[in-house]
Amino acid sequence: MRDGVLFEITNDQLETGLRGFPIGYCTTSHVDPHKGLTYVGRPIANLGAWNPTDVIYLLYFGEVGTSSQVETFRQDLMQRAICRKETLHAIRALPQTGPAMDLFAAALLLAGVYESTHNYREDCLNVIARIPEIAATLINHHAGWKETPASQPALGYMENFVHMLQIPHLTPLQKEQLIPLFRLFNILHYDHCGGNLSTFVGKAVASGLEPMYGSLAAAMTALAGPRHGGANQDGLAFTQELLNSVGENASPSDVADWLRERLARHELIFGFGHAVLRVEDPRAALFYHYAEKEYSHHPLIKIALLLRNVGPKVLEEHSKMADPHPNIDAITGALLSAAGFPYPAYFPLLFGLSRAVGIAIQIVYERLEARGGKGTPIVRPLYLYKARSQRDQ
Ligand code: MLT
Repeated sequence: MRDGVLFEITNDQLETGLRGFPIGYCTTSHVDPHKGLTYVGRPIANLGAWNPTDVIYLLYFGEVGTSSQVETFRQDLMQRAICRKETLHAIRALPQTGPAMDLFAAALLLAGVYESTHNYREDCLNVIARIPEIAATLINHHAGWKETPASQPALGYMENFVHMLQIPHLTPLQKEQLIPLFRLFNILHYDHCGGNLSTFVGKAVASGLEPMYGSLAAAMTALAGPRHGGANQDGLAFTQELLNSVGENASPSDVADWLRERLARHELIFGFGHAVLRVEDPRAALFYHYAEKEYSHHPLIKIALLLRNVGPKVLEEHSKMADPHPNIDAITGALLSAAGFPYPAYFPLLFGLSRAVGIAIQIVYERLEARGGKGTPIVRPLYLYKARSQRDQ
């Protein structure tokens, strides 16, 4: 390739979802096709056991904080963490029907109405601090669970979220056991480089100088669909359907036969493949490890683990998938259900609550730091004209 040329576009790359087109820099994370996700150069496998606030510090400042730096940051987030009562009131006035992600986007827009400072950096920190209360208030309201108790940020980032969620029929012990999983889920979903759909959309909307909350609301609608944040719902439904057909004591060959029959009927296999990755998603590996350690006897987990082993082999014999390996959606739904959160309507929202962290930080970079502080210009890609008479070509 010529000097300074990063990429050349040929006709066959049009209408392929900008797949692989370089368009800018991401300073928070990177996804290598063979090694997977790193946050600021650190493999995600090394970060799963960190405290969420330490990971947010790493993404926000681009370096590991000392314990006193992280403590100062934690105190700052705690000061910012309580939503205004007008915001919470407006969230409780939203409909209790319809997709939870649409309402989550609406909740973020409403939070912007009452809370936006019109300063990207301030709003980034405010929204990171407040989003657990926004999400918990919305879920409790939408699900018809009990009133959300007062936010207690001193409990810890995810501890407070679990405290506010009014999940019915959970013993205090079960609630306690949800915390480490929610912490892991939160950390592993913060960021996935710059070009995943929700992050790209959030930054694109912010490039028109829409403030932070509106940009995040747009990002959440981008996340909602079944090809992105909604895929964890399909992953669970798929695992459940397999479990119903073969039973929890199925053998690997039962699972392989079921998958082969499905492929023969040209039906979809959910939870496998990724736009960038060409190996098993290391985030999935962390979730599988957790599932094996904590819930190996749960029927959904038994089946999800069989799928993990058998799926890639069957997909390799039957299809030309560039990536026949499991992604996070193959396991997160089963794991959340096994751990006492069997509410798929809210799985994408848990993803969104987490991903908002990375998107907000990336928006700050693009608006305030990129191009020597000038920020990136409004997103405006080129579409080539095609006459309607040529549209089938
Ligand atoms: C994500 O975490 O955003 C998904 O794996 C999708 C992607 O990276 O494109």
